[in-house]
Amino acid sequence: MEITPIDRRIVTLGSASYQANPPYNTASYFTTSGDYRMTAKFNTESSFSLRLYASLPIIYDEWRAEPASIGVSLEQGNLRVNLWDGSGSEPVDSLQLTPDVPVVQQFSIDHIDNRFILYINNEEPIMLDDRGILREGKLWLGLDANQSWTLADISITSLNGSDVVLHEVDLTDTTLTAGLMTGARKQVGAAVALEPLLMDKGYRSALYSNFSLLVPENAMKPQFLQPRHGVFVFDDADQLVKVAVSQGMAVHGHTLVFSEANPQWMTESTTTERQTIMVDHIAQVMGHYKGKVASWDVVNEPLADEGGLRQNIWLEAMGQDYIAVALRAARAADPDAKIFINEYGLEADGERWQTFLGLIDKLRAAGVPLDGVGFQSHIYETADEVDGSVLVNHMQQLAERGLAARISELDVHGEDVDQQASQYETVAGACLKSSSCQSITTWGITDKYGSTTESQAYPLSLGDDLLWDETLKPKPAYRRLEVLLKS
Ligand code: XIL
Repeated sequence: MEITPIDRRIVTLGSASYQANPPYNTASYFTTSGDYRMTAKFNTESSFSLRLYASLPIIYDEWRAEPASIGVSLEQGNLRVNLWDGSGSEPVDSLQLTPDVPVVQQFSIDHIDNRFILYINNEEPIMLDDRGILREGKLWLGLDANQSWTLADISITSLNGSDVVLHEVDLTDTTLTAGLMTGARKQVGAAVALEPLLMDKGYRSALYSNFSLLVPENAMKPQFLQPRHGVFVFDDADQLVKVAVSQGMAVHGHTLVFSEANPQWMTESTTTERQTIMVDHIAQVMGHYKGKVASWDVVNEPLADEGGLRQNIWLEAMGQDYIAVALRAARAADPDAKIFINEYGLEADGERWQTFLGLIDKLRAAGVPLDGVGFQSHIYETADEVDGSVLVNHMQQLAERGLAARISELDVHGEDVDQQASQYETVAGACLKSSSCQSITTWGITDKYGSTTESQAYPLSLGDDLLWDETLKPKPAYRRLEVLLKS
C-alpha cells in the first residue's frame, strides 16, 4: 500500500491556522481484549507515519478533538513518538530519537500491561507508560505521510492468547426501522460525516432509516477536495456518495464557492489567477460527480452580516461578478445538476432578505443560471426563531422568480425541548406548505457529533441542536417531525 502526502488541513475559522486532518484513511480497525503486537513491514523506507487511535477524530466546528492515540513517525532520520490521552490537543508524552540506521524494515508496537514497547528494526526497545489508553476494544489504524512511503505488510497478533482480529468496516451493518422519510411528502436530508459513519452503528442506523437525501457536512469543501493546487482527493466524499447510492439516497453537494474552508494555497493565490482557480474547481468537482450528485450549493453564504456582499477571496478578485461566473461555470460543468445559492438568516423579513432579493433579481436580469435557494435555518438563539408564515412568503417570492427552495441546514437550540420541537415543526411545516420547496435537511444527526460542539474545549462540550441526543435517543422534535412529515 502506497501512502502519499496530500496536505489536508482543517481551516480554523477566522484565523490563518490549520489543523492536520485525521490520517485514518484505511477504514480498518482491530479488536482486542488483552496484550497485543502490531507489526508493520516496509521494503526499506526512510519515512513512515503511523497512528493507533481509540476512536476516529470527528470534525466539529472548524476543529477536531484529539482522541486518545499513539503516533509514531520516522522522518529525516528522526523517530518521533507522541501519545495523546484524549484530554487535550497536545501530546501528554512524546519523545524523539535518532535510530542507528535511518531506514526501517520493520516496526512493532507491543501493548503489554500498562506499557507500550516499540521496536524499530533490531534497535533497543523503547518503553512508554500507556497512560491508560489503547488497552482494549476497537483500535483504529491511521496512516499519514509528509513524503511517500510504502507499507508492505501489517499484522496484529495477541500476546496473551486472547482474540485480536483485524477488521474492515462494514458500512451495511445497521438496524433498520421505519423512520422519518417513510411516507414523507418531501425529501428528508441530513448532513453526514464519514468518521461517525465508519465508527458508529447507531449513527448508520439513524441515517439509513430516516433520510432520503445525504449532504456531505464537510467532505466536499474545497479544503478537502483540492488540498493542493490541481490535486483532487475525492476518496472520502466518494465513500459518502457510495453509501448514499447503496441506500437509495439522493446527494446534494456542499459546497463549491465559499469564503471559508478553502485550502491555504487557494487563500494565498494571486487575484489574477483566482477566477481560473474557481472555475476549474467547479468544473473538476462537478465533472467528477456528474450523474451522482443531483444538486449543488454553488455559492455558499455570499452575504455579509453587516449588509452587502461578504468580503472573501472571490469578491476581492472578481467583484460581485464572481457569483455569476460561478453559476455559469456550474451550469456548464453539469447541465443536469440543479444549482443553488445557500445562505443563512433569510427566514426573516428585513434588510438582509431585501439585499438577497436584490442579488437574485440582478442575476436574473443578467440571464445567469440559477435553480434555487437554500435556507440554512440555523436557529441558535431566540432572535433566530422563525415565523412560519414569513418563511412561506419568502419561498413564494422565490417561486415567482422561477426558483425552487430547500431547507438546507436546519438545527435548533435545545435548552427547552418543546420549544425546539415547535421550531423544527415550524420550519419543516413551511417547506411542506410550499410546493416549490423540495427538501428539508438537518445539519447533522446526533448531538454526539454535532457542529455546535464547543470549539477547542476539553472535555468535549456537546451542543443540543439536533434530532437525536448524544446517546442517539430521538428527541421530542423527532417525534413531532415524524407526525408532521407523514400528514
Ligand atoms: C460547519 C460544519 O458543520 C462543521 O463540522 C465544520 O467544522 C464547519 O462548518 N454553514 C455552512 C456549513 O454552510 O458549511 C457549516 O458547516 C455550518 C454553517
